[in-house]
Amino acid sequence: MYFTVFRYILVDPWLAPKDSFGCFASLPESMPFKACDSQKSFISMPICDLPKSVDEILSNVDYYIVTHIHPDHIDMNLDGTVGNPLDKKIPVLVQNEDDAQIFKNSGFANVQVLSENGLYINDIKITKVPALHGTNIPCGSAMGFVMQGNNIMKELNIMEATVFTSPNPLTLICSQNNDGTTNLAPICFVSYLSFNPPMIGFATGKQSHTGKRVRETGKAIVTIPSENLAQTVMACGSSTGENTNKVE
Ligand SMILES: Cc1cc2nc3c(=O)[nH]c(=O)nc-3n(C[C@H](O)[C@H](O)[C@H](O)COP(=O)(O)O)c2cc1C
Repeated sequence: MYFTVFRYILVDPWLAPKDSFGCFASLPESMPFKACDSQKSFISMPICDLPKSVDEILSNVDYYIVTHIHPDHIDMNLDGTVGNPLDKKIPVLVQNEDDAQIFKNSGFANVQVLSENGLYINDIKITKVPALHGTNIPCGSAMGFVMQGNNIMKELNIMEATVFTSPNPLTLICSQNNDGTTNLAPICFVSYLSFNPPMIGFATGKQSHTGKRVRETGKAIVTIPSENLAQTVMACGSSTGENTNKVE
């Protein structure tokens, strides 16, 4: 599901429940589809349940995009019609005239062929781009698409940006005081920096005793507190360990 400021666009809406379609090897002759890999021929499809109910997925959808008509991308009937659970009044964007005809025959009222020149949905430009379906063996033609929008991007200040990237994991950073005791501070500006070598970075304010001690000792322990420590952890954030022993 792509969410833009203006529209919900549902891509390749195959909505069949888990296992309901069977495997490629069991398809009837009217569906001449084959899995490229013989092992995959025997996997029951769909392999997992949908994350939401069909009604929820279909509510508020403004457009469907179907990159190609295969039975694992769009619900398909034995008579070759497609898209049964979908609202057939909602516009569909497809890769070529052949696919458009199948949707029209299936009762869809508004079917448009996406082209390399692109088409506009409000001020979102959707352009067809080449796609390779299948790795070693091509599995028929399919399209990719690019969405571009002039007004979709919005400049955010850093506080507004946190709304989109939160919640951050909260860590409790242990550092070593001058006298060898441990200081504790909740820190959420933490990020993985590298797997190899393993590196984690965190940011502390200029006044932070933790920051000062980590710079001086070159040592820090990054811990992930469990939920039952929530109040204690928050309490560690309300004072500085410069002159207080927070562990006590
Ligand atoms: C939920 C939470 C997240 C925090 N994240 C940070 C942070 O990422 N960086 C930082 O410098 N301070 C952060 N703080 C504030 C420090 O934990 C707080 O200033 C603490 O008292 C510093 O203790 P210290 O002076 O002993 O190091 C956070 C506090 C809370 C409650």
